[in-house]
Amino acid sequence: MKKLTLCAVSMTLAFGLCFAGAALASDDKGPAEMTLTSTIDPAKKAKPAIFPHAKHQERLKCGECHHSKGADGKQVAYVEGQKIEKCESCHNKAAGMPKKLTTFKEAAHANCKACHKAEDKKLAKCSVCHPKKKK
Ligand code: HEC
Ligand code: HEC
Ligand code: HEC
Ligand code: HEC
Repeated sequence: MKKLTLCAVSMTLAFGLCFAGAALASDDKGPAEMTLTSTIDPAKKAKPAIFPHAKHQERLKCGECHHSKGADGKQVAYVEGQKIEKCESCHNKAAGMPKKLTTFKEAAHANCKACHKAEDKKLAKCSVCHPKKKK
């Protein structure tokens, strides 16, 4: 009896670990909802942006927003399961990025705002991503 229980427990544990492992390896989709804030080159007045990540993942490929950097400093296209770093870790003033991509703000506007603008002008309004503070 005791042996059986132990076996059941260890099986559950093994399965649990297996699932957790898979989630870490390639199914890590990141948070469903985020509030993005610049920490490396922040503006004098912080302007956090809301970002429904999961909603965007429903219809966009990961590589629409995520990519990495090669040894030559050039952009490398997204590949499934790659390590995903914060935009700021590359898009910061010390990293020698080309014009208009030097900060989180610029990279985000070039990605988020440009697509929103192409999609529907109303989606490119500042308040869509930077909601006014409720008082
Ligand atoms: C489609 C989404 C989107 C739209 C529209 C947008 N932004 Fe942003 N903006 C972001 C993101 C994402 C960041 C980077 C994270 C952060 O600091 O908020 C950012 C950063 C900024 C920052 C730097 C904030 C900081 O704390 O350093 C400013 C200032 C800013 N935006 C102003 C504007 C203004 C003004 C408009 C309208 C003309 C606008 N944004 C429209 C997404 C957007
Ligand atoms: C519309 C743009 C967009 C799409 C599409 C998108 N992401 Fe993201 N994702 C982001 C942004 C922006 C962040 C926050 C990065 C930051 O904090 O600098 C993020 C963060 C993440 C993180 C957390 C990284 C960390 O440790 O902070 C993971 C994991 C992730 N995304 C995975 C995915 C996967 C997998 C897909 C495809 C199924 C995907 N994303 C699609 C924009 C996107
Ligand atoms: C590992 C480093 C790295 C990370 C992390 C990174 N980028 Fe980039 N990004 C680059 C490089 C390198 C380029 C190419 C710059 C050039 O043109 O020389 C680039 C180019 C871009 C461009 C212009 C070209 C294009 O694809 O449209 C945008 C927009 C952009 N990044 C947005 C983002 C956003 C948003 C994030 C976070 C979700 C992010 N980047 C994360 C390295 C990075
Ligand atoms: C390739 C296109 C594309 C990119 C890149 C993109 N978005 Fe969007 N986003 C959309 C579309 C289309 C909608 C409206 C459709 C919808 O709400 O489902 C939207 C909706 C939104 C909304 C409003 C959701 C709502 O329910 O009102 C926010 C906030 C938002 N995006 C923020 C961002 C931020 C921040 C980024 C960059 C980190 C970003 N988006 C990148 C296409 C994009």
